[in-house]
Amino acid sequence: MEKPVVGLAPMDGVTDAVFRYMVCRMSRPSFVMTEFVNVEGLARGAVKKMPAFIFDEVERPIVAQVFGVEVDSFYKAAVLVCALGFDGIDINMGCPAKKVEKKGSGAGLIQTPELARDIIWAVKRGVADFVSGVSLEEAGVHHEIIEWCGGVGEWRGVKKLRGVEERRELPVSVKTRIGYDKPVTEEWIGQILEAGPDVVSLHGRTLRQMYSGKADWDEIGKGAELCRKAGVMIIGNGDVSSMEDAERKIEEYGVDGVMVGRAVLGNPWFFGGEEPVMGELGKTARLKAALAHCENFEKILGKHMAFHNMKKHLGWYVKGFDGARDLRAELMQTENLEDVEKLIGNMLE
Ligand SMILES: Cc1cc2nc3c(=O)[nH]c(=O)nc-3n(C[C@H](O)[C@H](O)[C@H](O)COP(=O)(O)O)c2cc1C
Repeated sequence: MEKPVVGLAPMDGVTDAVFRYMVCRMSRPSFVMTEFVNVEGLARGAVKKMPAFIFDEVERPIVAQVFGVEVDSFYKAAVLVCALGFDGIDINMGCPAKKVEKKGSGAGLIQTPELARDIIWAVKRGVADFVSGVSLEEAGVHHEIIEWCGGVGEWRGVKKLRGVEERRELPVSVKTRIGYDKPVTEEWIGQILEAGPDVVSLHGRTLRQMYSGKADWDEIGKGAELCRKAGVMIIGNGDVSSMEDAERKIEEYGVDGVMVGRAVLGNPWFFGGEEPVMGELGKTARLKAALAHCENFEKILGKHMAFHNMKKHLGWYVKGFDGARDLRAELMQTENLEDVEKLIGNMLE
């Protein structure tokens, strides 16, 4: 049987360059996605968003995820994402966070299907214009963002802006939910499909459900049927707990693949099909991964972000063995790589 398509779902504050690097080194997801980046922020020149777009070759295929409401800003973001060398661009139409949704972006777009379609068309236009040779300046990308890109070649995985010969057409995807306050899967997916995305990713919850209850895979199955008829790839999402579960859901609900979020927290081995390494046997592997995560953080994001931003990962790695609870508490007091080395290093000798 062909290897099933099982990707890493985007998670804000989690799937940054370091975590994705760890996951791709430890096991092989079919694809990964960045955290979501606000297109209006990019259009205003907010360079502080750019570290979310740092990536390493080992992560390919890698999809950049963006969110917002301004059609023109989506166009500019699409050209930028192409120029940065990503393998795909995803439009977030699923985020239920109040601050996102009340502006009409994320899952808020489920209530404005015409705007949602305009956004998809704008992104497709950006991709097509990039292929035809438009420059970042011509596309109206903010000059501070362009300057930032010029400097990013320093870190090993970060692309210099791609040359004209590398201009290729990226697939445009939409990641969304099954409805706003009740499931309206067929109506909503039908509306999205009119704009011709290449891929639809569907999380089987409504916006109102946030992350509670169970993902409704029957609704995902309905979306899958519509996508199949339209010749559009569909990725199901929600509560996938293991590679076996992924294969079973792909088979049962007629999706082309799945993406997995929370089950990968503290478990970069997920896509290798291994059970999470638990107990004393797994202790060394977990501690090594925690330390490697810190080392990679210093190398990759250390100059862009404070150390405390990644400490939650340490908490997720350090579990399932005797003494894990106390060690976790101590790790939460650390302030840098040296502190972590002092705590974990001698346990690994
Ligand atoms: C902490 C966290 C952050 C998330 N951030 C994003 C995001 O930036 N973009 C997005 O499309 N979905 C985001 N999601 C939703 C996940 O991609 C996924 O749809 C959801 O967690 C259900 O999949 P799971 O059951 O495999 O976790 C986030 C979820 C979590 C738990």
